[in-house]
Amino acid sequence: MDDLEYTTLADRYFLRKLAGTGGMAQVYQAWDQLRGTEMAIKVIHDLRFFESFVREAVALRDIAHPNIVRFYSVEKDDEKGIIFIVMEWVEGRDLQRILKKRGGPLGIGEVTSILQGIQRALQYAHKLGICHCDIKPANILLKDADDQPVLSDFGLAHVAHDKGAGGTLAFMAPELFIKGGEYSVSSDIYALGVTLYQLLSGHLPFHGDTKDRLIREHMGKTPPRIQSFNPKVPDGIARVIEKALAKNPSQRQGSVMELWSEFYKYAQTVEQKRLKEHKQPLEFDDVINAKARSKKTMVPDQPILSSHPPKCFISYSWDSTRHRKWVRGLAEKLAENGVETHLDQWDIAPDDQLPRYMEKSVRDADCVLLVCTPLFAQKANGSKGGVGYETTIVTGEIFVGESVDRKFVPLLRSGSAADALPSYLKTKAYIDFRHNVDFDAGLEELLRHIYDQPKFRRPHLGKKPTFD
Ligand SMILES: Nc1ncnc2c1ncn2[C@@H]1O[C@H](COP(=O)(O)OP(=O)(O)OP(=O)(O)O)[C@@H](O)[C@H]1O
Ligand SMILES: [Mg+2]
Repeated sequence: MDDLEYTTLADRYFLRKLAGTGGMAQVYQAWDQLRGTEMAIKVIHDLRFFESFVREAVALRDIAHPNIVRFYSVEKDDEKGIIFIVMEWVEGRDLQRILKKRGGPLGIGEVTSILQGIQRALQYAHKLGICHCDIKPANILLKDADDQPVLSDFGLAHVAHDKGAGGTLAFMAPELFIKGGEYSVSSDIYALGVTLYQLLSGHLPFHGDTKDRLIREHMGKTPPRIQSFNPKVPDGIARVIEKALAKNPSQRQGSVMELWSEFYKYAQTVEQKRLKEHKQPLEFDDVINAKARSKKTMVPDQPILSSHPPKCFISYSWDSTRHRKWVRGLAEKLAENGVETHLDQWDIAPDDQLPRYMEKSVRDADCVLLVCTPLFAQKANGSKGGVGYETTIVTGEIFVGESVDRKFVPLLRSGSAADALPSYLKTKAYIDFRHNVDFDAGLEELLRHIYDQPKFRRPHLGKKPTFD
């Protein structure tokens, strides 16, 4: 499969970054130039299924729910021989990845809060007569901002198959393997059962090493007790999952609501028991916090980095290898202080995409740091290269207004202010980072500026960073 990064599809969607690869597609983070917003583009390298996708799309366009990834359209690019699905971009990570990283099961609390969101999404869609058809951890994304779970790939998995049901084998209900078997609320409940089993045990209930063996296991094998992998799972919850995994659809829960209320009853009991034992509310461990807590530099019990760290884009010119090394060093120091830092990579964006790349980078950033040197000023004033495009962007329509003052921060790295600050920055206060000044003092001033907004919380670090 070709790598489509930095390609524009349908004269409209600029594919910025490959976000993930699944069984039949690649998902890109893209910029929709018409709407002026971020989108996820799922590229399918098989034109044959276009008509079927378009048919499905009619129903999917109506689905609007906070726990469902918004679907926009199915389009095709004949020249490149691809179909692509345009959907909402979710800044987050999928549960498959989280499970892999964890290397073990998630906690009951975590799974309960995930299920709470997912069951809402499924109840809503089932009422509209739409089944998901491919519920699995890879299709559940947790938003970085608030850990809200959202379901992706609604109703699409079975489309790109010639005959009958297609989805992800490990999650497919036994009746789907029988001739004429169709997706239903009950097959979604089964897939949800497999998902819960995997989240709470770290294992799939069935993993036959060939397709036929796996199908046979779905049809006839009783999965290992979930507690054999994770003894913390209470009996009640194990029974709810076993019921969802019943071979006969009529023995499963009749609705997602039923499954949720059974599950929640036992989850609540666990939470109450924990409350009694610990005499303090033990909130559901959330994944972001667990990740942040593992950072050695964090002081225990310190409020965690805001789940939206400030984003900085560093713009600089290539004066010398030493200069670039310094810029990288600065980026590392910012990252150590909880700032999400992006270095200008204008060299990898193809020429015709450069303006868009620059605009996007500048637009996305909470702060744009301009590392000013005489060469930087020369390029900026002469509108040359990436730095030149940036000048157009900064001084153009888009960023003229109140945000400009806060957003663009000149860092004086060499030369004098008169030589090194581009003309559009001449009147702005700069932070002095020249060789002869104290780096730590400059860094401190910069961090104070970056974090000087209530939405960001500066992490408390164990020791003062030093720069070498
Ligand atoms: N709307 C989205 N926003 C952000 N990231 C997404 C979005 N949709 C998918 N992704 C990311 O892209 C990855 C690949 O998605 P994709 O749906 O192609 O694969 P999959 O779900 O693992 O497998 P399958 O091919 O069976 O659907 C996902 O695991 C997810 O991390
Ligand atoms: Mg998917």
